[in-house]
Amino acid sequence: MICQAQKTVALTGAGISVESGIPDFRSAGGLWERFDPMEYGTIDAFRADPEKVWMMLREMSEVISSARPNPAHKGLARLQKMGLLHSIITQNIDNLHQEAGATSIIEYHGNCGTLSCLSCNRQYRADELNGELPPRCACDRILKPDVIFFGEDIPTQPVRESHELASSCQVLLVVGTSATVSPANSIPQIARMARAKIIEINIEPTVLTTHITDIFLKGKASEVVTGLVDEVERV
Ligand code: APR
Repeated sequence: MICQAQKTVALTGAGISVESGIPDFRSAGGLWERFDPMEYGTIDAFRADPEKVWMMLREMSEVISSARPNPAHKGLARLQKMGLLHSIITQNIDNLHQEAGATSIIEYHGNCGTLSCLSCNRQYRADELNGELPPRCACDRILKPDVIFFGEDIPTQPVRESHELASSCQVLLVVGTSATVSPANSIPQIARMARAKIIEINIEPTVLTTHITDIFLKGKASEVVTGLVDEVERV
């Protein structure tokens, strides 16, 4: 299917980075089990008490800073180098697709590599800050990572690009997402409506598996993606 497709696109979620040591959100032990997303994950919560939200962000930034791409990230980058994966739409903010050497990445929920001041709009790269947490702007306000919080709109560009990719691909590879958060979870539907084949890789079935997914490959992303790319390479 992938070898015959003109365009294969991947949609990835937190599950692809779990084997890099970054907990996902909704599995047992996930981030939202320890931090209520309505108290720590909304833009209103950040505006009301940035210091408190940075308690959650601190934990995320510690695991992300020590995380490295795992074989699943590397497998998708390999597939791209083989000319068999056009783009990666990721809900993740951990930059691991980039670090694995992938290109043409659409970051649906932003990236934690830059931070902005909600008061004076200055933007900083994470690596140019002094490591103090929570990080502060020169105007002394607490900075917000350039990631999408609940209650924030996804910028139009990633929405448009993702819609365009989903409606023009022949295969959509869905890796490690519970597909429970909109509007990202509309991407598989858009692809299916455009008659693409949906291949889902997950350790367990999701809301997609019964009525959207054509092929469900059950297992850990690093094992299944590696096996899939090895198989494609043999063809
Ligand atoms: N291999 C494959 N899949 C895995 C693995 C693994 N090793 N570990 C977990 N998974 C699967 C889980 O079964 C689950 O279906 O990954 C999925 C992770 O789902 P979520 O934790 O809901 O993460 P995600 O779908 O990316 O969440 C979407 O919600 O909170 C927001 O902004 C946040 O981008 C995030 C969005």
